[in-house]
Amino acid sequence: MVIDPPPVDKLNRPLHDLRISVTDRCNFRCTYCMPAEVYGERYRFLPRTALLSYEEIARVTHAFVDLGVRKVRITGGEPLVRQDLHNLVALLSRIDGIDDLTLTTNGFLLAEQAEALRDAGLRRVTVSLDSLDPETFGRMNGRGHGPERVLEGIAAAEHVGLSPIKINSVVQRGVNDDGVLALAEHFRGTGHIPRFIEYMDVGNINGWRAEDVVPSRELVERIDAVYPIEPLAPNYRGEVAERWRYKDGAGEVGFISSVLQPFCGDCTRMRLSPEGQLFTCLFASKGRDLRAPLRAGIPDDELRSLIAGIWRGRADRYSELRAELRARGAGRKIEMYQIGG
Ligand code: GTP
Ligand code: 5AD
Ligand code: SF4
Ligand code: SF4
Repeated sequence: MVIDPPPVDKLNRPLHDLRISVTDRCNFRCTYCMPAEVYGERYRFLPRTALLSYEEIARVTHAFVDLGVRKVRITGGEPLVRQDLHNLVALLSRIDGIDDLTLTTNGFLLAEQAEALRDAGLRRVTVSLDSLDPETFGRMNGRGHGPERVLEGIAAAEHVGLSPIKINSVVQRGVNDDGVLALAEHFRGTGHIPRFIEYMDVGNINGWRAEDVVPSRELVERIDAVYPIEPLAPNYRGEVAERWRYKDGAGEVGFISSVLQPFCGDCTRMRLSPEGQLFTCLFASKGRDLRAPLRAGIPDDELRSLIAGIWRGRADRYSELRAELRARGAGRKIEMYQIGG
């Protein structure tokens, strides 16, 4: 049942995307997300009983679709470490009204799961890969892993038709920015779309500094100098990545400039955490709990009203106010691995 009229927030933004984090665990320890010295052997992740079940997630997603959501992304932590993720995909792919059902993964477990995910109804994937250089990548993922298994995961996803495949790279000055051209080159002509992300001050522990950010502008120039590129129109209003294509027809590259060219004005995303909290911004400090009402048996219409009310009250635009909020020493933020980017 579609609710008419669908809710808009305080800045008149509709609710169009839902990003579902299915776990706070990850098999990587990226230095900018879950540094190994903080998330060691003894770190306590959420216990299983705290997580929403797949049935609960599907029920919440249904309510979101009734409120206008058309795009659903599964994230983590690393979503593929949660048991039998394909079972969740199967439940979500049965919901009428979702135009885009996808997943963001670090790719490490993708080769073994690609087929089951496709069979369950997943349409495409986005794979994170910050460098092709084994040493740089090993350092960034905090586990010493080289890029081979991730590249095998991408190949497996392509083989079963989970395309177009997007490749996300977070770029940090002096860490991996020297490998941007190699990444662009590697994926030229493959049909996969590399996207370079400006390093953001998500969470509280990555020690973000403005000088670590490499402006997308600069990367456009660097790539254009070797392989000429030209801008493309967005696929849809509010698309996060700026699209460019190679003039020689060898494909597309994207740039996500959330620091230097914020896109809050078109932000139509709500985020659901593994334990059932809703976050209205990637930089929020507090979520709103859905798990308790779900487990207390809230009826469908009340669940929809609860979510619609949260959306209507939303005024977030952190990236546009970053400098001001940081100067004020804004409170503790949610960590990236808790809501999946
Ligand atoms: P497509 O639909 O495939 O274009 O994906 P997407 O760009 O919506 O999703 P993806 O998960 O690949 O997002 C890429 C990256 O952009 C994320 O990992 C974040 O780093 C950043 N990003 C996505 N959404 C937001 C947002 O709402 N705010 C900010 N500040 N950054 C975002
Ligand atoms: N800034 C930008 N992107 C980030 N990601 C994780 N942390 C950050 C950050 N601080 C990216 C991951 C992945 C996606 C889910 O978010 O690399 O591609
Ligand atoms: Fe894991 Fe992704 Fe965070 Fe890296 S960025 S530690 S892959 S959740
Ligand atoms: Fe949306 Fe918050 Fe990101 Fe702005 S900073 S685009 S409001 S999630």
